[in-house]
Amino acid sequence: MFDRPTVTTSTTRKAIRFLLFIAVSALLYYLLIGDLVPPAPRRMTMDDFEAAEMGLPSAPQSNGTRILIVSSMFPLAKSKHSKEDYAVWLKNFLAPITTDIYMYTTPDLVDMIKQFRGNLPITINSSYSSPFEVPPLRGLEKAYTRMNDVDKEKWHHSPGLYAVWNAKPFLLHSAVQFLEEQGKVYDYAFWNDGGSFRAEHRYTNWPDPGRVQQVWEEGSRLTGMEKENLLYFPLFETVDSTFKDWQENMGPIANSGQVSEGSFFGGSPSTIAWFSKTFYAYHDYYLSQWLFVGIDQDIFNAIFLLFPERIFTVWMKDQKAPKSPVHHGMTPSKIIPGLHLGYYNGECGDPWFYYQFWLSDRKTRDEMRKLWIEEAQWRRLRWWTERRMCQMKKAKSMMDILKTSFGVDWKPPQRSLNISSLFQ
Ligand SMILES: *[C@@H]1O[C@H](CO)[C@@H](O)[C@H](O)[C@H]1NC(C)=O
Ligand SMILES: *[C@@H]1O[C@H](CO)[C@@H](O)[C@H](O)[C@H]1NC(C)=O
Ligand SMILES: *[C@@H]1O[C@H](CO)[C@@H](O)[C@H](O)[C@H]1NC(C)=O
Repeated sequence: MFDRPTVTTSTTRKAIRFLLFIAVSALLYYLLIGDLVPPAPRRMTMDDFEAAEMGLPSAPQSNGTRILIVSSMFPLAKSKHSKEDYAVWLKNFLAPITTDIYMYTTPDLVDMIKQFRGNLPITINSSYSSPFEVPPLRGLEKAYTRMNDVDKEKWHHSPGLYAVWNAKPFLLHSAVQFLEEQGKVYDYAFWNDGGSFRAEHRYTNWPDPGRVQQVWEEGSRLTGMEKENLLYFPLFETVDSTFKDWQENMGPIANSGQVSEGSFFGGSPSTIAWFSKTFYAYHDYYLSQWLFVGIDQDIFNAIFLLFPERIFTVWMKDQKAPKSPVHHGMTPSKIIPGLHLGYYNGECGDPWFYYQFWLSDRKTRDEMRKLWIEEAQWRRLRWWTERRMCQMKKAKSMMDILKTSFGVDWKPPQRSLNISSLFQ
């Protein structure tokens, strides 16, 4: 007598539970998994990956824009990489890149560099056999050795490496000045690390003059500054929000993640002169206060907060940038393991060197896209994810980037250092 209703109730309950299970599963699938399933295939064209291309309808003609690349190679006894690695990377830079190059190196490497360069234009300056001979760093060996002793990353840093890094703004400026005295004037000059073309590439006339003109136009529009006054720096991460109240006298900004990329930066000759002066003014000031100045990128970060109005960038890790149509699957970085995880640019090679792609012309960008997508097809990492071609990102002003970290009300800190009275 009691059985029947119980059976009915339990059957109904089971049915309801089952339906509920289906409904919840469908909802979960939709919310969690559905997002990861690639959308219905649509044949994408290269143009889709240019969607974030900036303002100007098409790249203007280079209009005779003259570009100089400045670089150096000072081998260190204690280095993260072997001499053979550097030789391969140097060749990968000097042999294919046709842009005028000014290269600082030690006397023993001159022949190798000449051989790699062949008939392409280069000025080799071997008057410094150590970065400590570079004027703003003369006599700093002892101070840098003391700094190294307190460096948390002492295991892979050395006083010589700090000097190689901190010599860059001076060497860039000095090369531009030296060539100017010889009657060779450039519209833009860039620092480019000698070891920064590591993987196979298709760059030749790089950075492309038309593209450089275009991004400077855009930078000018974003910042309201004249093109001549703009400094370009690729950015990796943004500054931690904890630096919101950072002040000039607090010293270089050692962010939790790398912000400025020290391997490439530049601008017009007058901006380069300004940057060199500013960099050593702060370097000397911080050193006089016994603040750690071993890492150039930390000093660059401080300059970003002090002079954001003059700086524009492309921010690699911008998660707010439109993800569609590209997601996942960047190549593991040779610079920092794990860097590629969580990026949304598509197959763009090593994320650290995204700016190389960003500053090349459209034809080369497409060639690089093909190269990377072919490489990606052979990679096992995240094999289930879709491989998408490398996406273009928009230029950003430093002010916008910093306000993303610090809030819209953030204002640059007070500047009191008298730069004109210091070095140079
Ligand atoms: C090309 O260069 C000339 C001379 O410097 C300049 O007057 C002109 O505005 C430039 N044109 C473009 C499109 O940039
Ligand atoms: C090498 O560079 C330094 C600094 O830029 C400069 O003073 C010197 O004249 C250059 N030497 C040669 C031989 O080019
Ligand atoms: C900064 O230094 C220059 C050159 O020594 C001097 O003319 C100027 O008055 C100084 N400015 C301030 C604010 O101290």
